[in-house]
Amino acid sequence: ACVVAVLIIRKRSKGIKWGKVKEMFAEIQSKCALPTEKLKQIASAMETEMHAGLASDGGSKLKMLLSYVDKLPTGDEKGLFYALDLGGTNFRVLRVQLGGKKGRVVDQDHLEVSIPPHLMIGACQDLFDFIAEALSRFAALESEEHKLPEGKQRELGFTFSFPVKQLSLSSGTLIKWTKGFSIEEAIGKDVVAELTKAMERQGLDMKVTALVNDTVGTLVGGRYDDSDVMAGVILGTGSNAAYVERASTISKWHGDLPQSGEMVINMEWGNFKSPLLPITEFDEAMDFESLNPGEQIFEKLVSGMYLGEVVRRVLLKVAQEYPIFGDIVPPKLETPFILRTPQMSKIHHDSSPDLKDVGTKLKEVLGIHNTSLKTRKFVVDVCDMVAKRAARLAAAGIYGIIKKIGRDTKSDPKQRTVIAIDGGLFEHYTIFSKCLDDTLKELLGEEMKNSVVITHSNDGSGVGAALIAASHSDN
Ligand code: GLC
Repeated sequence: ACVVAVLIIRKRSKGIKWGKVKEMFAEIQSKCALPTEKLKQIASAMETEMHAGLASDGGSKLKMLLSYVDKLPTGDEKGLFYALDLGGTNFRVLRVQLGGKKGRVVDQDHLEVSIPPHLMIGACQDLFDFIAEALSRFAALESEEHKLPEGKQRELGFTFSFPVKQLSLSSGTLIKWTKGFSIEEAIGKDVVAELTKAMERQGLDMKVTALVNDTVGTLVGGRYDDSDVMAGVILGTGSNAAYVERASTISKWHGDLPQSGEMVINMEWGNFKSPLLPITEFDEAMDFESLNPGEQIFEKLVSGMYLGEVVRRVLLKVAQEYPIFGDIVPPKLETPFILRTPQMSKIHHDSSPDLKDVGTKLKEVLGIHNTSLKTRKFVVDVCDMVAKRAARLAAAGIYGIIKKIGRDTKSDPKQRTVIAIDGGLFEHYTIFSKCLDDTLKELLGEEMKNSVVITHSNDGSGVGAALIAASHSDN
């Protein structure tokens, strides 16, 4: 073994054959390529699946879930409402004072709590007890001015960001977990009933008036500020979109048509899959080793939970073939999910001539010391490939929605379509969000590119859930 090791070290010490590294990288890049025409095909495939998912349950990889939100906010919503937002590594509880015609959101405060990882894969009751306990602590901090009038029960909009089959606005059963959560016994259960029981165990008197997905909350929160908002998109730990659909086109819906004629649909686009998607051996291996193999393929290409991990896998493969990080493969580089997307973002945004931040991150995160400028540049190139593939795919998804609702052409010269987006990836990864915006313009073309606008809806999902609770409150 010693002799072999010496031989390997000798071979590697000859230096890095950058020509070969570049060749290997060019091949990976070609698999990730997404020229405009291909993106348009992906958008069309998304649109086709949207039709299929609206036609029948199980008709498509896209679940196209009914949200039962058929009234969008008017600005008249008034009163004190709570919201609870569960769906990533943190959860938030909010108290929102809606001012009605005069005031909009007059007051708002919140508490953010990180979820201990063991609760994400443990017992259902433990997770809900943990949440209800934090909610109860927060509700106890209600100030005198926020106190509800005697006899009125507190109301809550529950943002639960996983696929749920809703039975009504205020109930729904969990279809499956995504984003690293995995609590088998919760599947098929009504999550509102679970939360209500946990609140009762805490002695907390609060009623869940609305159960909403974060994309639906983002759409509604965005619409409160801008009446042209037609879709809500999340680009964070996970990725998904919701949009306003004409209720008459939802053939799987057998209830009465709502008065507004509209219904918000939660697409669950993270589960989109198509042979057109640029999937590499790295994506396949990551999917295979994930908690949900074969599922959420679009999400695994696009969202924050996975981008850093794809970069790590590419770097590892290159480091196993060429000594870009020295003669031995850095052991930490073999650890799944060690490189998080915010760290990748920091690397990608380093604009200093000597790429100092890249060097620091490689040291801090992966224990790699003394990298050459060439190596640091190469690491940035890998981040660029993975982030831009994600941003371009997200833009194609949005373009698919725009096509589905007929906003890819202009009927009225004043027509404006706004897409409200939230999530840490969109908010903090500037190169990603700029590329998303540019790509959407590229797809829309000269004539349409200014009539579709992307806005950042900062925590729209929490306020949105409170607004939905308010507009459906029977208090
Ligand atoms: C995952 C969930 C989805 C959620 C999205 C963003 O895709 O399945 O419900 O909207 O993450 O948080």
